[in-house]
Amino acid sequence: FEGMTVSELAKRTGESTVTLQDILVNVGEKAESEFEPLSIDVAELVAMEVGINARRIHSNEGAELLPRPPVVTVMGHVDHGKTSLLDALRQTSVAAKEAGGITQHLGAFVVDMSSGASITFLDTPGHAAFSAMRARGAAVTDIVVLVVAADDGVMRQTLEAMSHAKAANVPIVVAINKCDKPAANPDRVKIQLASEGLQLEEMGGDVQVVEVSAVQKTGLDNLEEALLLQAEMMNLKARIDGPAQAYVVEARLDKGRGPLATAIVKAGTLVCGQYVVIGSEWGRIRAIRDMIGKLAVQARPAMPVEIEGLKGLPMAGDDIIVVESEERAKMLSAGRKRKFEKDRLRKISEGIETLETCED
Ligand code: GTP
Ligand code: MG
Repeated sequence: FEGMTVSELAKRTGESTVTLQDILVNVGEKAESEFEPLSIDVAELVAMEVGINARRIHSNEGAELLPRPPVVTVMGHVDHGKTSLLDALRQTSVAAKEAGGITQHLGAFVVDMSSGASITFLDTPGHAAFSAMRARGAAVTDIVVLVVAADDGVMRQTLEAMSHAKAANVPIVVAINKCDKPAANPDRVKIQLASEGLQLEEMGGDVQVVEVSAVQKTGLDNLEEALLLQAEMMNLKARIDGPAQAYVVEARLDKGRGPLATAIVKAGTLVCGQYVVIGSEWGRIRAIRDMIGKLAVQARPAMPVEIEGLKGLPMAGDDIIVVESEERAKMLSAGRKRKFEKDRLRKISEGIETLETCED
């Protein structure tokens, strides 16, 4: 929408220029000539008011794209060891070791290896968060680690996780966990997975399988290597320069510091002091902290950070965009609030209609 005129926007949205100019005045903007280019914020707001879901996509054209670390989500059946595996992986992080551990709970952490490569793990509790984020258009995860207990084998939520990953078009790396148990039978798990349609590498496919034990901390290096190899094949790159495009992974309210959001930047660089709109909230970034709680000036792609300075509490999956001023941030946030409220009311009334049709 960058630089679009009212007349172009009218064509794109199918609304008349008069309607759009009315909206402009309503949101406190001047009714510019229809050939005057609008700022991206105003254009997005106007598009939103006429019901176009305007998620801005910053152009990467001409920008330098650099390799970025993969962002990984761990999924699997209840009790198969997701939390244990994340904890074990967390402890392998060099930075965490040096800092004497990751002190605060951030909802995401980075494992940085001695080779210089790193992997970002989302600490989300299973696929509920994954699907909630995907439903909101947040494509944060690059790779899913599917945890399957070597003794239990494939269970209902294993299959659910597989279908979630497939629907999101996210590749899977299998971690067969609890291999230390006497009842462990990794071969049986592989056969089960293959019969569910997973194309395992050792059977000629491209899905890597790693045998691990989260409790004994074995196989973790292999898992990390498998993830890096998968990432390499995906050729993950991001624009580093320019305004950040980021997502909220988790948000919470802190008594002293106010609303805090854990964010992962997808592209560009998020800088302290910037005005942001997050979902329908806004704020000015007062502090950026990394996963060990250290203050940072900026956040680059795939780096999980905690940001402070928001006026309200955002939700997991909300997008974060950078705007040029407080005025724009407020305007966009107010516009989005109105839009979300309208959507909510529409959903309710549609719900009532459906109920009525059902009664017929
Ligand atoms: P939910 O969050 O409830 O779905 O469970 P989870 O998948 O996070 O599993 P969690 O890490 O809580 O582990 C469940 C149980 O399995 C705990 O008692 C762990 O100690 C045990 N466990 C996890 N990994 C291993 C392992 O590698 N070997 C053995 N022997 N036990 C394990
Ligand atoms: Mg758990």
